Amino acid sequence: MADYKAVKVTGNVWWVGAVDWHLREFHGYRTSRGSTYNAFLVIDEKITLIDTVKAPFFEEMRSRIASVIDPEKIDYIVSNHAEMDHSGSLVRAMQEFKAEKLFCSMQGEKALRAHFHDALPELTVVKTADSIELGKNSLTFVETKMLHWPDSMISYLSGEKVLFSQDAFGMHLAGSGRFADEYCDALLYEEARKYFANILLLQSAKITDLLNTLPTLNLDIDFVAPDHGPIWRNGDHNKILSLYSEFAAQKPEKRAVVLFDTMWHSTEAMAGAIAEGLIEAGLPTEVISLHSCERSEAITRIMSAGVLAIGTPTINNNMYPSLGDMLVYMRGLKPKIAVGGAFGSFGWSGEGAKQIAEALTAMQIEQPLPPMVNKYVPDDAALENCRIWGKNLAEKLLEKINN
Ligand code: FEO
Repeated sequence: MADYKAVKVTGNVWWVGAVDWHLREFHGYRTSRGSTYNAFLVIDEKITLIDTVKAPFFEEMRSRIASVIDPEKIDYIVSNHAEMDHSGSLVRAMQEFKAEKLFCSMQGEKALRAHFHDALPELTVVKTADSIELGKNSLTFVETKMLHWPDSMISYLSGEKVLFSQDAFGMHLAGSGRFADEYCDALLYEEARKYFANILLLQSAKITDLLNTLPTLNLDIDFVAPDHGPIWRNGDHNKILSLYSEFAAQKPEKRAVVLFDTMWHSTEAMAGAIAEGLIEAGLPTEVISLHSCERSEAITRIMSAGVLAIGTPTINNNMYPSLGDMLVYMRGLKPKIAVGGAFGSFGWSGEGAKQIAEALTAMQIEQPLPPMVNKYVPDDAALENCRIWGKNLAEKLLEKINN
């Protein structure tokens, strides 16, 4: 195995995580640029490891720790989040590093026990505002339930002024740079947006709560160190906090997405005509075929769209299977969309567009117009109706935004 090195974050804090260059799937989310599992080593009188890494990366983490200290000198391990991309190495770490204590939240104790049963020793439960003294630094905990799991918490290291934020403020981005200032802003925006849309969208209100709570805690933060992607240093963390604030607000944007799949290109032709109507009404519009765009990219583009029109053919009395996949994914993440609409071509009975409309209603997405449907191949008149339907959807959004 290669000899891996730790990377200094600041003073006595080291990054000792792992880079997963080849990860392309994270519970349904296509991570096209891989990810990192960030773990951090704090050198103090009590040497402390913050989080671990996914199980197959244990040796990489150990090698990085060993480049700074003998891993058996670790006194404490903190588990900020029980999901296995961060806790997968916990049992081996406790056994092989012989740490004296393992800290987690109350929900963390339940989750870690339910994952690892008797393989873990006794856990020390901490709650919001609890602190542990490490020597020159203390570590203070804040529970952040549902960001991203019930057990989640963040930890603040005084002295070094580092906020270890676990999944919050992260992104899936593998790379040789450990710090955000080593990447261009456009790339950081793209990956932060994709991560938020696919991991945290459902918990937008909790992100807003956390962003409102942080200033009240009077934490003097110089570094935000999430468990995935780059670390924010020298005060530039306000960039990621403000991006997260923008994403969590889900304010409807003056733009439209037309999402569809097609069997014999009739629904595709309808999508094109609908897009023309939306554009004519002045909305920047994106047309997405589920043949060429997978669900995690699609949800990233859908997030905060003012108008979402979804089209499907009807196959065997149902919507097209790719739309079923997309709608199940959307239903879980609950994007807030101001104006929705369903459309589609059919040959026999035409249930597809109706099912899309029902799914949008179940997601509390307002549909001011009835579904636009067409039997078999749309002629010029049918396409003109689609164009008008798209234009009307755009006008409904503009009325809503302007009122
Ligand atoms: Fe990175 Fe919720 O795990």
